[in-house]
Amino acid sequence: MKVLLTGAAGQLGQALLAAQPPEVELIATSRAGGAGMVALDLRDASACRAAVLEHRPHWVINAGAYTAVDKAEREPELAHAVNSGAPEAFARALTETGGRLLQLSTDFVFDGAQGSPYRPEQPVNPLGVYGASKAAGERAAQQLLPAQQLCILRTSWAYGPVGHNFVHTMLRLHHDRAASDQPLHVVADQVGCPTATPGLALACWTAAMQGAGGIHHWCDAGAASWYDFAVAIGEVAAGAGLLPQAADVRPITTADYPTPAQRPSYALLDCTITRRALGLTPQHWRTALAEVLQQISTEALVHP
Ligand SMILES: NC(=O)c1ccc[n+]([C@@H]2O[C@H](COP(=O)([O-])OP(=O)(O)OC[C@H]3O[C@@H](n4cnc5c(N)ncnc54)[C@H](OP(=O)(O)O)[C@@H]3O)[C@@H](O)[C@H]2O)c1
Repeated sequence: MKVLLTGAAGQLGQALLAAQPPEVELIATSRAGGAGMVALDLRDASACRAAVLEHRPHWVINAGAYTAVDKAEREPELAHAVNSGAPEAFARALTETGGRLLQLSTDFVFDGAQGSPYRPEQPVNPLGVYGASKAAGERAAQQLLPAQQLCILRTSWAYGPVGHNFVHTMLRLHHDRAASDQPLHVVADQVGCPTATPGLALACWTAAMQGAGGIHHWCDAGAASWYDFAVAIGEVAAGAGLLPQAADVRPITTADYPTPAQRPSYALLDCTITRRALGLTPQHWRTALAEVLQQISTEALVHP
């Protein structure tokens, strides 16, 4: 099975590379190329099309994305070009080759207002530019490809051992605040589910190997606020010897920590159908966190 992967240098891309099944012939792409990766700029729709026509993959796994949620409010054209233009270009080219698209997407396509987990078929209503651009990417691909040629996999709060993510930021802040005896304030009124990239990568590869189609939701099990997640990062990291001690984490509200992009307050994804379809059981997020923290070196804490 031949797979064209985008965003191979990103945190999910790295996890997908680490978990590549032996029967997969992989063409890994990144913005800059190098390190065994082919250069592919997702802003360039004709380059996306050319890559599909040249390699004729069975699957395009589009893990590349413009993921800077707050910055997207200032760069809507760029966010849409990457997050909507690229999946549209891939989908259009795949109508010619017959290959399939695995399009990664996000809980941020929902507004978080319903107060219960979102099922895959529910209507989207993004609050910010990032969510809107990802929703537009889903829509563009759906308009071009039938369900058996398109798998949309939404996830939430992704983090892994490599890359820029909440866990790395919190490890640094725990370290610095504990050392200076300062509290660490973290938002407690946004609820979602942290999702570790190794489990997410397994779900992606399983979906591709099984030829899954339609809209799917994949997250680790359970639910947490950012505050809960920050407390757990401190406790688990300190318990594992990754931190000398955890900082004193204190809850604040979203209003106390204004950001350019509005975020959904309760964006849990109902993953029931996907768990059954893929035959996978996610770990609880805290178990997955402990495994990721084991992979993060203490060196990274001191020199983030
Ligand atoms: N991170 C999350 O919390 C989260 C949550 C839900 C869904 N998702 C979705 O999951 C997928 C994987 O996200 P991730 O966490 O792995 O994000 P990530 O670590 O930010 O990786 C995204 C990758 O896309 C690349 N990229 C951005 N613009 C590009 C361009 N114009 N051309 C080529 N490559 C470009 C980035 O390269 P540069 O580093 O060079 O910019 C980066 O390597 C995305 O579809 C994202 O929307 C993520």
